[in-house]
Amino acid sequence: MSKTTLAIIAGISAAAGAATSAAILFSRPEKKSLPTAIASPAPTSVPVPAYPTPLKDIVPPVNPNGLFQYGFPGPVSDLHPTLSTTSAFDRRTRNPAWVAEHITPASLAVNNADRKHSYFVEDINVPAKFRANLSDYFRSGYDRGHQVPAADAKWSQDALDQTFLLSNMCPQVGDGFNRDYWAHFEDFCRRLTNNYPSIRIVTGPLYLPKRDPEDGKWKVSYEVIGNPPNVSVPTHFYKVIFAEDGKTGGNVSLGAFVLPNAPIANDKPLQDFEVPIEAVERASGLEFAAKLPAQRRKKLCEEVHCTVIVRDYMERQKNLMGQAPGKRSISGP
Ligand SMILES: *[C@@H]1O[C@H](CO)[C@@H](O)[C@H](O)[C@H]1NC(C)=O
Ligand SMILES: *[C@@H]1O[C@H](CO)[C@@H](O)[C@H](O)[C@H]1NC(C)=O
Ligand SMILES: *[C@@H]1O[C@H](CO)[C@@H](O)[C@H](O)[C@H]1NC(C)=O
Repeated sequence: MSKTTLAIIAGISAAAGAATSAAILFSRPEKKSLPTAIASPAPTSVPVPAYPTPLKDIVPPVNPNGLFQYGFPGPVSDLHPTLSTTSAFDRRTRNPAWVAEHITPASLAVNNADRKHSYFVEDINVPAKFRANLSDYFRSGYDRGHQVPAADAKWSQDALDQTFLLSNMCPQVGDGFNRDYWAHFEDFCRRLTNNYPSIRIVTGPLYLPKRDPEDGKWKVSYEVIGNPPNVSVPTHFYKVIFAEDGKTGGNVSLGAFVLPNAPIANDKPLQDFEVPIEAVERASGLEFAAKLPAQRRKKLCEEVHCTVIVRDYMERQKNLMGQAPGKRSISGP
């Protein structure tokens, strides 16, 4: 791989954005400087050195666990189930670690709510000193980007309102991303209900390394918004999609995508952003389907056309809460 190619891969600019994340996450390291945690597959054949089991007659002169008399440091994930979302919070970055949702043809068919009655709120489930608050986003230049989209929860006003918790938000680039390609991607997820009776989606932020052109080293760099700065701006976002066949113990079609938090041209194929689920796991430190055996796993993008349908933002805003789902083919008009 040439130096230029690596630089392009590492960038998260509009032009490079598309293949960027996928390339970083997939590629086997060609250079030692690639971040092993993300780039290299987990070693399966390397012998693991084992420490000898302590002899029974050793009485330790110390007790590291004594720390817990003063409290357990964490991390604490602030798990928060609501009607429409279940989220875990990352107190360090003041972003969610992941937010899960469930959509079905029936849930999307009900329109009992209006976005104009919803407003963004702090999540008091998160302790105040770790919370994101509205002032952090104010004049930051970033959208309060829903992880679980509002349009997926219009089946009740309460369900819709709960998607406006800041524990469901990350700072997202507005033009070209949150209001455009990312919105088309969310629409793709909704359209999956034309093909599957039940869809689960986990969405969250990533902070991926890119190559420093100065010294060639891979570094993680991200903005922190708020005054004082509190809320980290993710470099990328992932969605892991579980398309269920509706049978108990049935097959599940999996798809994982990583998109840069940057403007993306509408003509970029969605499949450019598809990554193996393991790549999202390595990059996020999370595990999504540990209990799903291999024989029940299918590949989403082998069953449906993984493509976005681009619709004009203004038109989409107008129709967002009122459109009837389930009528369009997944492959588009
Ligand atoms: C933001 O960070 C500052 C310190 O940097 C802290 O005093 C403040 O409480 C934080 N805000 C929240 C909502 O945690
Ligand atoms: C949000 O955080 C800032 C910084 O800590 C603080 O000054 C402000 O009072 C907080 N706002 C609310 C509504 O808690
Ligand atoms: C799951 O998919 C396999 C083929 O990959 C098929 O043989 C099996 O019948 C499917 N299971 C169910 C419950 O539909």
